[in-house]
Amino acid sequence: MSLTPLEGLGANTSLQQLEKTYDKWSGKYETDMISLGYHGPGTVAKIVRGLFDNDGARILDMAAGTGMAGQELRKLGFTSIHASDMSTQILEQAKQKGVYDKVFRCRMGEDSIEGSDESYDCITIVGCFSVPVPVKAFQELNRVLSVGGYLVVTFRPDVWTDQDIYQYKQALNSAEWRHVSESLEDFHGVLNQDKNEEFSAKWFYVVYQKV
Ligand SMILES: C[S@@+](CC[C@H](N)C(=O)[O-])C[C@H]1O[C@@H](n2cnc3c(N)ncnc32)[C@H](O)[C@@H]1O
Repeated sequence: MSLTPLEGLGANTSLQQLEKTYDKWSGKYETDMISLGYHGPGTVAKIVRGLFDNDGARILDMAAGTGMAGQELRKLGFTSIHASDMSTQILEQAKQKGVYDKVFRCRMGEDSIEGSDESYDCITIVGCFSVPVPVKAFQELNRVLSVGGYLVVTFRPDVWTDQDIYQYKQALNSAEWRHVSESLEDFHGVLNQDKNEEFSAKWFYVVYQKV
């Protein structure tokens, strides 16, 4: 039995297919993920807190989904958070949380990000890169970050490898970015019983800085 509607989506999944999947899943996404013991947004928020003393750091939560990372960032004191996602239906849920100052649609890798150059100090992307996102997305992310600003992002271990199947590593290990840290963290809860291996039991939490 599938744990979530993501089963069967892989390297050949188009952004359009993925968007439809998340649109359909939007009403149940959060309860499903909580029941799986999902703690990615909380872990990312703690990493961001460790990077900034300033509560007013301008944060953009890309691929924000229902806004779980925004909620965690607010709990830790951050006061300026924007959100974006490609699924309009899931973004409605994020809006309703009231934790974001601005919410806008963007298909990373296809669309420009709303906002001028260097308008954010930090971008978070949690749980998005299991399927291919066109790597030109990283140029746009770099554009809207301030110099010295941070990208805090998660990758599944089968994606963040030397084989680099989607070229994410190649895009980030370039002159525009400085690698700051990465750690492989365990999931807990029922993910350990995921017989279909739909979810990885571990994720990489990776931090890069705009040079
Ligand atoms: C597993 S959910 C994670 C949502 C949220 N960050 C969280 O941790 O709960 C992945 C999200 O990424 C979004 N997404 C995937 N590819 C995207 C892309 N290329 N551009 C924008 N959003 C994307 C999906 O619509 C979905 O909301």
